[in-house]
Amino acid sequence: MDIVKIGILSISDRASAGVYEDKSGKEIKKLLQSYIKNEMIFHYELIPDEYELIKQKLIYLSDEKKCDLILSTGGTGPAPRDVTPEATEAVCEKMLPGFAELMRQESLKFVPTAILSRQVAGIRKKSLIINLPGQPKAIKECLEPVFAAIPYCIDLIGGAYIKTNEDIIKAFRPKK
Ligand code: MTE
Repeated sequence: MDIVKIGILSISDRASAGVYEDKSGKEIKKLLQSYIKNEMIFHYELIPDEYELIKQKLIYLSDEKKCDLILSTGGTGPAPRDVTPEATEAVCEKMLPGFAELMRQESLKFVPTAILSRQVAGIRKKSLIINLPGQPKAIKECLEPVFAAIPYCIDLIGGAYIKTNEDIIKAFRPKK
């Protein structure tokens, strides 16, 4: 089985300053450990909401650490310091609007403020990058509905072959 490289980028002024714990980054790791059967290497970064720094870390996780999947959390809302989607778009070669469309739609079942997240997803080199909102509970609410499409997307961009724990979540790969 391939080793899957995962980048977790937590973006929060307050968590990075130590005001509170980064629960969302930990939640991403926990969830992926339950979904994915392969051995995984995690690269974790916790940074403030700075446009240039976000771009720099996304590029580092993609180009240097060669992550198959990069999940960011935080900075997707409408507040002046929220710049994660802009930084993500700036480093991606292709955008995949379907991920955010479905995440917002499914999130509306939990909170009416789901429409405030400007989260995006896209491809840089051989990395699939997906923004998640900053709330710890938003991680599962957003990731679960889109996860079935993630392994095949990573196949298509030349990344690791992901096997899932099928009793928890199933990957969908169209038959060729
Ligand atoms: N999506 C889900 N699934 N669950 C949530 O609790 N919170 C919303 C929205 N999307 C939320 C969610 C709220 S209140 C905001 S302001 C936006 O995500 C942006 O959050 P962020 O700036 O922390 O990324």
